Parts: sequence; C-alpha cells; structure tokens
Amino acid sequence: MIILGIETSCDETSAAVVADGRRVLSNIIASQVDLHAPFGGVVPEIAARRHIECIGFIVDEALAKAGVGLADIDAYAVANGPGLAGALLVGLNYAKGLAFVQKKPLIGVHHIEGHVCANFVTEDISSGEESLEGYERASCAIANSASSELQPPFLSLVVSGGHTLILAVEDYDTYRIVGSTRDDAAGEAFDKIARVLGLPYPGGPEIDKISQGVEPTIAFPRAKISGFDFSFSGLKTAVAQYVKKQEQVNTAEIAASFQEAVVDVLAKNTLAAAESKGFDTIALAGGVACNSALRKKMRKVCAGKNLFIPAPIYCTDNAAMIASRGYFALRDGKRDGLNLNAFPGSRSFGTS
Ligand code: KG4
Ligand code: ZN
Repeated sequence: MIILGIETSCDETSAAVVADGRRVLSNIIASQVDLHAPFGGVVPEIAARRHIECIGFIVDEALAKAGVGLADIDAYAVANGPGLAGALLVGLNYAKGLAFVQKKPLIGVHHIEGHVCANFVTEDISSGEESLEGYERASCAIANSASSELQPPFLSLVVSGGHTLILAVEDYDTYRIVGSTRDDAAGEAFDKIARVLGLPYPGGPEIDKISQGVEPTIAFPRAKISGFDFSFSGLKTAVAQYVKKQEQVNTAEIAASFQEAVVDVLAKNTLAAAESKGFDTIALAGGVACNSALRKKMRKVCAGKNLFIPAPIYCTDNAAMIASRGYFALRDGKRDGLNLNAFPGSRSFGTS
C-alpha cells in the first residue's frame, strides 16, 4: 500500500511517499523559515502563499525521488488540522484534486497524531543506532529495545511549537490525552525565551546550540501541577525577570538553565505518567524532540524502558509522518469525502 502524504499546516511544505505506513520512499520538505525570520515568527498569509507556489513542485519531487508515478499511489493522506487555516487549505485542496482525478481514497490526518507516527517510519537508506550526540545519521526511530519496530500500546510525549501533550497510544487509531500544557507549549516557550535573549527565530534550535557544553547553573522554577500537566508561563516570566535584572547577560548560561528546567519537567512528567499508567514503551515526537538535552535526558531516565526517538528530520513537520498516520487510518477503514474541511484549532483525537 503506497500512500502520498501532504503536510502544509505551518511553515513547511512537504510531500512524502511511504509504503505500508513505515517505509519512507521519499520525504521532501521545503522550509519557509527564511521568509518568516525577519518577522520573528510565522506570518500566516505569507505561509499560505508560499505553500501555493511550492506544493506542485514538492509533490512532483516526492514522486520522482520515490521512483513512482501517480498511478502507483493507493491513497492520499493530508494534514487537515490543527494548524494555520490558509496554510492547511493549500495542502488539503491539492490532495483533494489528486484523489478526485486519480479516483483514490482521501484521508484527513490529525497533525499531532501524525507527529506520533514519525516513530513508525524508517528509511531504506540506513538503519541502526543513532549516536548519542549525532544527528548525522538519517536513521529514524531508534530504540533501547531489542525490537526496532514500534507497536502500540505506548506512551508518547509530543512537544511541538503549538502543543505539549502526553498521549496514551492504545492502538494505531486510539490516542488518549494523559497530560497537556495549561498555558504555553514547550516550543513556544523556547521561541519566546530565545527572543528575550536576542537570539534569532526559530529560537529552539538556537538555545540548543548555544547551550552545548554549558553548565545549567541558574535554578529557574519548575511548575508543579496536579496530574501530568505542564505549565511554562511561570518559568518564562522568571527567565525574563532574571534577564532584566542583570547588568551583563550571560546568554549561554541562561539558555542552558532555561532548557534544563523545561527538559526536567518534560522528562519527569512523562516518566511519572508511564509508571502510573503501566507503559514500558515511550516515544518522543514533535519539533522540540530535536533538542539534544531532551534526547539525552530521556535516554537516561528511560533506562530499562523502551525508548523511541525519531531522527530530527522526522521530529519537525514532515509529510512522511502524515502518510504513515493515513495508512493506519485507511487500514482501519477510514475514508474522507471531497467535502473534507480544515480544522485549524484544537480538535479531538482518534479517527471517529
Ligand atoms: O513540530 P514542529 O516542527 O511544528 C509544530 O507543529 O509546531 O515544532 C516546531 C518547534 C519550534 O518551537 C522550534 O523552536 C522547536 O520546535 N524546536 C526546538 C528544536 N528544534 C526545533 N526546540 C528546542 N530544541 C531544538 N533543537
Ligand atoms: Zn508540527
């Protein structure tokens, strides 16, 4: 079963061809980051217009790289929310056009469920362990486990620019929220603190970079919330006030200490949720899962558990994860009609 996935929910135009929900034949991503960087964040109108310009070329490239034609595609999976409305509509309408002309099924995919499914995909070109620090390998989901193929049930920590969630993935189509943020998403906090420190957009990778090898000596607060929920607004304020009080700002020390505070809470809550709900397999997902300190900490605290972490290229927005999610939905009998709409805001999980 060969699925073409399309992802245009934010500032990456992406198309991918994935076989049987797991084997990536191609995954093409056009990032718009340079277009938005001067504004310090994603400008929705610019994002949508850039997707319009790119989508046709990106889909063609994904097909060519996979060595397949439209006639070989069994179904079209597209992220239809959450995300930016105008941006989502570009991918959605493109996928609809292809599904209509080719007379093949169309499947709308929940973007966050897609992020989780990044843990299912592997590439033909390489396999095996990623080195602790290294991102150089193109290998995908890596595991501390004997089995390298992730299967539900498992617990997933999804940390992106717009979401911070702990999800219980009970089977391929059932996602239940175990914990979520009460205010900012982790990625949002990274981006905002980067701005306070005068670092360029997007801030997450910048904070990661300048924190390398730096001791996190400043004790910023860790919010304690009932259950497995998160809160990052207090930490954000604490860092901003700390910066304001300094005559000379040690950017790297503050960045490393802020990062440590975020990573601490993410790891602690995820572990506590896994223990409490009886999961011994944990999978990371979302852009912040690229963070080297988070990857390192999770490896440490998950000793004795099975840990899956996608290669960084599959943590940030990509269409391979959308194709994978679409495959499992299709296998479960899901189909959408040509009246499928975009759902920009928060939406419930699961296929029903
Ligand atoms: O999942 P994603 O690509 O898009 C959304 O669905 O939101 O996540 C983007 C977020 C941004 O906030 C970005 O700053 C953050 O992921 N991010 C990182 C790193 N790489 C990306 N945050 C911390 N460390 C990183 N290395
Ligand atoms: Zn995303």
